[in-house]
Amino acid sequence: MAVRIREAIPADAEAIATVHVRSWQAAYRGQLPDEYLDGLTVDERLSQHQWALEHPRPDWRVWVADEERSVVGFAVTGPSEDADADPGTAELYAIYLEPSSYRRGVGRQLFAHAIEDLRERGFRTATLWVLESNDQARRFYDVAGWKLDGATTTERIDCLNYPTVRYRADLG
Ligand SMILES: CC(C)(COP(=O)(O)OP(=O)(O)OC[C@H]1O[C@@H](n2cnc3c(N)ncnc32)[C@H](O)[C@@H]1OP(=O)(O)O)[C@@H](O)C(=O)NCCC(=O)NCCS
Repeated sequence: MAVRIREAIPADAEAIATVHVRSWQAAYRGQLPDEYLDGLTVDERLSQHQWALEHPRPDWRVWVADEERSVVGFAVTGPSEDADADPGTAELYAIYLEPSSYRRGVGRQLFAHAIEDLRERGFRTATLWVLESNDQARRFYDVAGWKLDGATTTERIDCLNYPTVRYRADLG
């Protein structure tokens, strides 16, 4: 079925929150603690996504992969907030698909769209952080041609302080 990439609207918040929780619980099983994953709730994520969509931050974009009017994935981009980032550096803050949509080419389509938008907006470089243990996503970024840039941290609260590594791509 055809997948269309479009900008998210506030009415997408619940679908995005649902994808978020389901994707974390599936993809991070064995990487983050079960009790944390099992405690994630759509309601909690919903308020975060609802607020973010109703109060968009300048230069941030939320994209959804819409398949027959059903949201099967989302991606969030904007300027890098890393302390060492040069001006003109963007970040892919998140990309998550509904687990039943993994490995069907939806991620590639969503990712390409979000990154092309960054290029069109004049960003010259893009980075992303990924759990060091997230082999599935790391292979996806490898195939997309992104490279580890050597930065690592255990200070990402969104990753529960588990080790994360940074990937980088030149958008030139
Ligand atoms: C990571 C993610 C966005 C990738 O999207 P996807 O739709 O599953 O990936 P695609 O089907 O578009 O894959 C594109 C190509 O990347 C490569 N690839 C993707 N996943 C791969 C895997 N697990 N192993 C090896 N190669 C992989 C393949 O070359 C693939 O092309 P192919 O299927 O024709 O061989 C998606 O799997 C996801 O949401 N994962 C869970 C959440 C997550 O970890 N997000 C990243 C947080 S930093």
